[in-house]
Amino acid sequence: MEIKHIGVVGCGQMGSGIVEVAAKAGYLVTVREINQELLTRGLGRIKGSMSRAVGRGKLSQEAMDASLGRITGTTEMTDLADCDMVIEAAIENMNLKKEIFQELDDLCRPDAILATNTSSLSVTEIAAVTERTDRVMGVHFFNPVPVMKLVELVSTILTSPTTVATVRSVVEKMGKTPIMANDTPGFIVNRLLVPYIVDAVRAYEQGLGSREDIDTGMKLGAGHPMGPLELADYIGLDTMLYVAQIMYDEFGEARYAPPPLLKRMVAAGHLGRKSGKGFYDYS
Ligand SMILES: NC(=O)c1ccc[n+]([C@@H]2O[C@H](COP(=O)([O-])OP(=O)(O)OC[C@H]3O[C@@H](n4cnc5c(N)ncnc54)[C@H](O)[C@@H]3O)[C@@H](O)[C@H]2O)c1
Repeated sequence: MEIKHIGVVGCGQMGSGIVEVAAKAGYLVTVREINQELLTRGLGRIKGSMSRAVGRGKLSQEAMDASLGRITGTTEMTDLADCDMVIEAAIENMNLKKEIFQELDDLCRPDAILATNTSSLSVTEIAAVTERTDRVMGVHFFNPVPVMKLVELVSTILTSPTTVATVRSVVEKMGKTPIMANDTPGFIVNRLLVPYIVDAVRAYEQGLGSREDIDTGMKLGAGHPMGPLELADYIGLDTMLYVAQIMYDEFGEARYAPPPLLKRMVAAGHLGRKSGKGFYDYS
């Protein structure tokens, strides 16, 4: 099946990035948020990101205008009914994702593909709430989506090879490099990255060094473009907490356990860049 119209559920950090790359690749995109305020904020983020790309000479003004013209924002789930493929990028919560997939399964055409951008939840469990388990898979983008080249494609034991081939060609058209991962929490990248970030939070909590010294240490000593605490702020501390907790619940290994400091920062509303404060101040 040729994919022409892509739906995106959620226009937060990841959803807005997915909308941007899909529209730039020539797809018609309809994005759904839960209210007008969040939708306006998400669409503003897309415009801002494209304007910066124009400013850097990476995108022409004509391409930006054409891409924005392909995007429709909505607060109604039913506006996704005509999509050939829907990518869900709502918050990392199994019950919510199941509700969304049930709703999408009821309203989308039977041949439409449903994908989730989950970082750590079981794609099989999400697929199982639908009547189209062969057309459900994980499509895990990285943050910031317009910049990061990688997409992890997660096929379950129920996903058909045709679905995988179709989705692979969609992400390649978006200029991404896909890798195949099994449906296990964290897939490949977060399975290795999350314990590292969680360890850095614990190290900071235990006074191993200042946040700046921990980050500078890993940037200059290990050649990482960002330190682990900066990266946690970038990902979002709430998302870090959800993902670490899900991996800890699944594997039962202490290295995935969210440190008390991370839990308290999230409880305090310090979610990283998106809230203006995390390990660092962005106000
Ligand atoms: N942040 C990252 O680095 C990253 C990377 C890869 C994958 N992910 C995954 O992507 C997903 C989204 O993460 P994010 O960082 O964009 O979070 P976010 O909090 O920035 O955005 C989530 C958005 O989903 C919206 N939403 C919630 N319920 C909805 C519904 N029923 N319909 C439509 N919109 C709804 C929220 O209003 C919010 O704007 C999560 O599953 C996360 O694990 C995150």
